[in-house]
Order: sequence, then C-alpha cells, then structure tokens
Amino acid sequence: MNCSPGSKKIVLGVSGGIAAYKAAYLASSLVKRGVDVHVVMTASALKLVAPATFWGITSNNVITDLFEPPRQREIVHISLVEDSDLMLIAPATANIIGKLANGIADDMLTTMALVARKIVICPAMNVHMYQNPVVAENIEKLRSRGYIIVEPESGRLACGDEGVGRLADPDKIVEVVDRLIAGAAQDFAGRKVLVTAGPTREPIDPVRYITNYSSGKMGYAIAVEAADRGADVTLIRGPTQLNAPTGIEIINVTTVHEMYNEVICRAAESDVFISAAAPSDFRPKQIHSGKIKKSERYTLELKQTEDILAAVGASKGKTVVVGFAAETENLERNAVEKLKRKNADLFVGNYVGAGSGVFGGDDNEVILFSRDGESVSLPKMSKRKVAKAILDYIFSNFLEEVK
Ligand SMILES: Cc1cc2nc3c(=O)[nH]c(=O)nc-3n(C[C@H](O)[C@H](O)[C@H](O)COP(=O)(O)O)c2cc1C
Repeated sequence: MNCSPGSKKIVLGVSGGIAAYKAAYLASSLVKRGVDVHVVMTASALKLVAPATFWGITSNNVITDLFEPPRQREIVHISLVEDSDLMLIAPATANIIGKLANGIADDMLTTMALVARKIVICPAMNVHMYQNPVVAENIEKLRSRGYIIVEPESGRLACGDEGVGRLADPDKIVEVVDRLIAGAAQDFAGRKVLVTAGPTREPIDPVRYITNYSSGKMGYAIAVEAADRGADVTLIRGPTQLNAPTGIEIINVTTVHEMYNEVICRAAESDVFISAAAPSDFRPKQIHSGKIKKSERYTLELKQTEDILAAVGASKGKTVVVGFAAETENLERNAVEKLKRKNADLFVGNYVGAGSGVFGGDDNEVILFSRDGESVSLPKMSKRKVAKAILDYIFSNFLEEVK
C-alpha cells in the first residue's frame, strides 16, 4: 500500500527501551509511504533518543509533556488520537505494557493510549523481563482487549542475553501497520470466523508420522483477510513453517483428532467455518510406543480419521460452512458430491498434484461451488486475492441470512 501524503495519520508512541533508536527507522518508513506520523515520547525514551530526530523525520512537533500548554484551544491527547488511524507503540517497554494493562495514564503516551481506538503494541525487552509471568499476563490482557501485539523476535539482545525480546523487524511492523490502515471494508466486523490451515501429523511410532504437502498458506490468507475486514478470527493450525499472523487467535494442533476437538467446541458459536486445512484421511490403526525396526516387509494398517467438515455440517445451525476440495481429477463431480454429503454451503475446488504448484505456492486457481448449484471459476491469482474472492462470495451470498 502507498498512502497519498497526509491521507493516513499515525501516532507513534516511543517508550524507554533500548530499541527506541529503531523507532526512527519506523517513522521514516511510514513517512516514505505518505503517512502523517506524530511521535509521542516518554520521559525515559527522551534519555535514549533525542526528539529532534523524530521532528526531523516527520516534520511534526514531538509530544513529550502532558502539561505543555496547547498551541490551539483543543487538547492534544484527545484530538490527535481521535483523528488518527491508529496508535503504534514501538518499542513498548514492560513498564508501558503494565500501565496500559491496568489503565494507568500518568504521562502523555499512556493518556493518549486510553483515547486511541486501535493500538498496535511492539514489546521489546530483555528475555527474562519478557518471560516474567507478570509481563506475559499483561500482554495477554491487552491482546484479549483487542490490542494488536506484534511479537518480539528471538536472537541476541542488546544486554548480551540470547532469547526472545528483540523488537520485531521494523519492516514487519510497517507491514502490519499497512494492513491495518489500508482501509479494507469492515464487512466482517462483529462476525466470528473459524479457519483451519495446514497439514496434520499422524504418528506411526516415536520417530515417524503420516502427513501431506499442505503449507497452510491458503488458510492463513483467509484468516488474515477476514481479520482485516473486521472479523474476530480464530485460526486452528497444523504444523506449518509460517509465522503466526498478528491480531488473530492461534490454536496449534498436530493430529486430526486434536483439530477435530478444537473445531467442534468452537464451530457452533462461529458465524463462518472455513476448513482450509488438509487433515489426513487416515491414521495408523496402532501407534507403536517403540521405534519400528527396519525389516524387509512391514504392513502399516490404517483407519479413517474423523471427518471434521462433515461433523460441523451435520449440526451446523446458522454457521456458514465452507470446505476445500483438492482433487487430481473430476474436480466438479467430486467437489459437488462432497458439498452435498457434508452439508456445506460452499466448496472451493482446485486441482492439485504434480505440476500444479498449489502446495506451498503463493498462487491458486479455484472454482467456487455453492449449495445453490452455482459455480464460479476464478482465474489464477495470489492466495490472498483468492481469500478475498471467497470472503466476498460468502458475504454477499450467505451472511445476510445469518444476521
Ligand atoms: C539503557 C537502558 C535500556 C533499557 N531498555 C529497556 C528495554 O528494552 N525494554 C524495557 O522494557 N525496559 C528497558 N529499560 C528500562 C526502562 O527504561 C524503564 O523500565 C523505564 O521506567 C521505562 O519507562 P517508560 O515505559 O515510561 O518509557 C531500559 C533502561 C535503560 C537505562
């Protein structure tokens, strides 16, 4: 996204962490994208970086003092935050996080935060501070209240320790901000969307398992698109290499049985359930407690796993149920048959297999099959655009009915 100058306004709160100098890069990246950035600094941040750096980068006054008389009649901490698209706090110290979690407003940054509607928090601190249960609890408290947390990264910290606590990569923070201020239609606001993504693993013995090539990218794209459109999203994911998207509740599972349990207890209260995962159809009949020894012949007996989608479809109530059919042949026949058998509302069909590039790729070419008999072929496009098309279809064809 590239905002036109002045079209988006952000309040950047800088607190007194060693990563405060990285906030200058953040401010600069945002200004380059056309964002009007207003920096507010805590007293501790002022000891680590000079306000002139931010003034020079943003061309706006840097706000530091709650009691400085306003130049106009309006009260800065109210008007500036009310007019802005979001407040970004980077770095966010353990102290700031603690204050925000407890409603303390004893300086300009924390006072403005109580006014802001949308807040992104980027914690950065020593690993032991970050792992302190009080800090972890405060972060969870903020997350549960709708604050968006951009998790810190792991690595060598300024204090010399190794571990989690380093401010997230500033480019990643800018990406999150971009997404949040891009102005996507909030047509899923107030909706609960449950998404599954990725493969599953069915253990054979302590060192082997059955899995598949699913990367989880399609399910992730759907979860992120739904969150950007205002949905309250829960993503139940099998083992994937992908980083957890921010602003989305993540539940990690390994086996189909675990995924089944997590889905079943949430599906009824969801407005939409989208099964984009590739759960294994089979699991070993018996899981060996010891490693199976190498031998000339070994027969692995399999049994069927739970059919998660069919179980949700069987008692779906008002939940809109969406499945995926990854087929190597007879796509339409198979997708429509599954749609009916599983009592789904929509099936997203695609060809997979050798040369399709779907598993792990960034693009997908799908056909939507609706319960009404309609089918819509979409051209090959990025998984994010496919996600948008699926949510557009769900919104205009089913959601009005479940309001
Ligand atoms: C050199 C230096 C680096 C610091 N780095 C951090 C840090 O990365 N994260 C953190 O939570 N606190 C850090 N602190 C401690 C905070 O500055 C301290 O808790 C302060 O009260 C935070 O105030 P504020 O949250 O109002 O900015 C650091 C202190 C010093 C002296």
